[in-house]
Amino acid sequence: MQAQKFDLVSPEFKRNPFPVFSEMRSCGSIVQAKLPLIGRVWMATTYDAAVDMLRDHERFPQQAVRNGKKNVAGIKWWMPKALKVLTNNMLLQDEPDHRRLRGLVEQAFMQHSIEEFRPRIETIVDQFLDELELKFKQSGSVDLIEHFARPFPLAIICELMGLPDEDRPMFSRWAQGITNSGSIFSFLSMIPKLWKMNGYFTQQFKKCRVNPVPGLLSSLVSAEQDGHQLSEDELLAMAFLLLFAGHETTVHSLSGSVWTLLQHADQLEALQANWSNIDLAIEELLRFLTPVQMTKPRIAAMDMEFHGQPIQQGDYIIALLAAANCDPEKFDRPEVLNLLRDPNPHLAFGSGIHVCLGLKLARAEMAIALEKLFSRFPKLHLAVPEKELQWKKMLGLRSLLKLPVKLA
Ligand code: HEM
Repeated sequence: MQAQKFDLVSPEFKRNPFPVFSEMRSCGSIVQAKLPLIGRVWMATTYDAAVDMLRDHERFPQQAVRNGKKNVAGIKWWMPKALKVLTNNMLLQDEPDHRRLRGLVEQAFMQHSIEEFRPRIETIVDQFLDELELKFKQSGSVDLIEHFARPFPLAIICELMGLPDEDRPMFSRWAQGITNSGSIFSFLSMIPKLWKMNGYFTQQFKKCRVNPVPGLLSSLVSAEQDGHQLSEDELLAMAFLLLFAGHETTVHSLSGSVWTLLQHADQLEALQANWSNIDLAIEELLRFLTPVQMTKPRIAAMDMEFHGQPIQQGDYIIALLAAANCDPEKFDRPEVLNLLRDPNPHLAFGSGIHVCLGLKLARAEMAIALEKLFSRFPKLHLAVPEKELQWKKMLGLRSLLKLPVKLA
């Protein structure tokens, strides 16, 4: 099969990806494509193919080295050794290492239950909404991403991890630098940021050992399972993963949800009249947007036929979550937003052993933030024509650059 070229980064695609997904599905449930940075990959385009692949971690593991490749999807070979540590996180590990690492972080996570944390999330949202209102009064319009959707989830994950408040602006700069790396050149420019992060976290671990503070970082430093503690490298990789997985994804889920709701004024109005439907609405927003559009590449552990295609050992394969989430075989009228859709077994958080660890937190953050935002500012609307909004040309993440709004 010839690798096909699909445009998965253009602003048109980010604004409305449904036509491209439909074209991809018409080529098959598994298609071969050429992607920037990654190269030739198979992509699972239907719901069933995505689920079958993600739940079969024996045939589709993560570890490239054990399965005929020297590196992960063409990215890591040129990285300095010390920086590879940061990318060597549990998302890129197979069993039993993945289970051990995930078990340790789950153990630490459970000590900070999301339900107990809810009142704190509400207080933090209120604080950011105060600042948003102030900014709006000063300027007449405000970028919802810069002043709400970005700082709020960052504050939450920093607080959960037990990182000092004053360090947040620095993380925000690092995170933006790293997620802006859509090309190899901008990816290279993030190396100094990664070095700094490496040094920063090493210092934090030292502090936590001497003087534990409430939060995930201290819990991880002391967490132990079957007599094993996390090594220094594993701690670094975990801190790095939690900070980025727990931040950037939520920024774009939140801003994308506000954008979507503003495009569907009638459904927003119905939701504002009955906030008890917020949980259903969050699931549909996650399905409709699927901000993390694809999983990390897995590697075929053997030659096989999979959904009718001949896959060879060492081939890369990605689950195109956003295409699976608009598969008409699974979802009735998938291109139509229906905030009351029920059931809604979407794959926005992935599936299988690597299913998102932070899904409960993400759901709570989105529900609290959207309800408070639209209750306090019921007349919130875009400050520019919708067509002027810009989408980041970034593979795999559906993200707006800015979301200028007026609050009244
Ligand atoms: C709406 C927001 C979020 C979305 C859409 C999202 C999406 C995802 C997806 C699709 C995966 C699987 C990737 C793959 O299989 O290649 C994943 C994994 C993960 N997510 Fe999230 N995520 C979100 C929020 C969070 C938050 C708030 C945290 C942390 C506190 C978090 C932590 C993680 C971790 C640690 C993994 C790796 C799990 C593993 O390998 O076992 N995520 N996420």
